[in-house]
Amino acid sequence: MKRHAIILAAGKGTRMRTKLPKCAFPILKKPMIDYIVENVEKIDVDTVVTVVGHQKHVIQEVLDTRTLYAVQAEQLGTGHAALAAKTLLKDEEGTTLILLGDMPLIDKKTLQSIYEVHENSDQVLTVVTANFEAPHGYGRIIRDDYGKITAIVEEKNCTEAQRKITEINTGLYAVDNKRLFEALDKVEKDPIKGEYYLTDIVKIMNEDHPVGTFTIRENHRVMGVNDLYAVSQAEKYLRDEINKDLMLNGVSMINPETITIGHNVQIEGNVTLLPNTTITGESIIKEGAVIGPNTEIHNGIIHESVEVKHSLIYDSEVHERTTVGPFAHLRNRANIGKDNRIGNFVEVKKSTTGHDTKASHLAYIGDTTTGSHVNFGCGSITVNYDGRDKHRTSIGDDVFIGCNTNLIAPITIEDNVFIAAGSTVTDNIPSGSLAIARNRQINKADYAKNLIKPKLKNNIIK
Ligand code: UD1
Ligand code: CA
Repeated sequence: MKRHAIILAAGKGTRMRTKLPKCAFPILKKPMIDYIVENVEKIDVDTVVTVVGHQKHVIQEVLDTRTLYAVQAEQLGTGHAALAAKTLLKDEEGTTLILLGDMPLIDKKTLQSIYEVHENSDQVLTVVTANFEAPHGYGRIIRDDYGKITAIVEEKNCTEAQRKITEINTGLYAVDNKRLFEALDKVEKDPIKGEYYLTDIVKIMNEDHPVGTFTIRENHRVMGVNDLYAVSQAEKYLRDEINKDLMLNGVSMINPETITIGHNVQIEGNVTLLPNTTITGESIIKEGAVIGPNTEIHNGIIHESVEVKHSLIYDSEVHERTTVGPFAHLRNRANIGKDNRIGNFVEVKKSTTGHDTKASHLAYIGDTTTGSHVNFGCGSITVNYDGRDKHRTSIGDDVFIGCNTNLIAPITIEDNVFIAAGSTVTDNIPSGSLAIARNRQINKADYAKNLIKPKLKNNIIK
């Protein structure tokens, strides 16, 4: 039996009050729609169609070629959105799973079981429902005296009594593909909201086909994210779930409620995470690392036994036993070697270092290749930008860079070089040299009195 999926993601998300189209809005720094497609990809589905419309390029940029696209030019409701997939799917046999692009917590297991329940039944449509203590905002499931589903009523259309129903429509449906498009053609505009409701297919199909329900128990899996408060709730669920899983696999967390780990982050056992740490993107943290407190890592690869405290690491890699921070900033493909020390207020951008290199305090290292056993003195700076272009600095092995040195790029410092403190280095330094690039000091004897102002006594100058 063939399996297809339609993901509805054309809506604006008015209740979000943000500029991004809702389904591209991030949950733990990853677009909502990405979670959904990732889970659909984990199961065997023949055709996946995402319905896009409002700011469609944003959604398409996230998903790229991972799904097919149907365009809903005007957002006239979920029924109208599903119909947009007709041209792509109408001739297909099999089951179509309909998903909403605003249910980021849905998982593979739930999706798999929806297909299975549907395929093992004689139903043409299986509506996935859940029982919510606070059903506000969701469509309610209406059943007849025999318990059979007869309709879904949107909250706006509910009578007082219907509003009290706690069984809700999750927005997930498994449906016979051909029957789906026949039913969608019959959906009429709702007079109250002026939209074509997908939920109307229940009533339409009920006329001549068996329609049933599948009730799921893990309610949070199907929460719809409609506003920024719901974003925070979804993040909380996801955070707790990820943290628990990590802790059970040997990752120690101090104050886990303040620690946020993204969905695709890999953390090995015997790692310690301290409070207020956020690790997202495609980050990898290897065994023995200690990260935090107050640290943010996005797309960072942190090797064995590295320590990072009070620091920011973006798109960068740190090798074994190096210590980073407090208050360091590594970004844009910084690649720090083994046993380095990147200390207080040091920024490293698009640069590599060999092993046992140190920049302990107040340094900027940008567009630089540095060897091993190099010491950047306090306040040393690679001057990589001339106001128009960026230039590279190359530093060999065993180089001592005195405090407050400016290395004006492009420049090459060869091996075994010693640079005197306070130098502004504009020329390459050959191997083995001592470079001093500053004025020699002059001491003028007995001259200071001419410069030091006389002391004030009782405000009278003597
Ligand atoms: C929908 C359901 C409701 C259900 C709830 C579950 C309908 C009419 N209502 O309500 O029964 O309880 O989800 O979370 O289906 N979309 C489009 N084009 C449109 C309108 C919406 O693609 O013209 C997309 C949106 O991008 C969104 C999804 O469909 O991803 C759901 O739309 P939304 O407005 O959030 O529906 P709800 O009011 O939450
Ligand atoms: Ca919704």
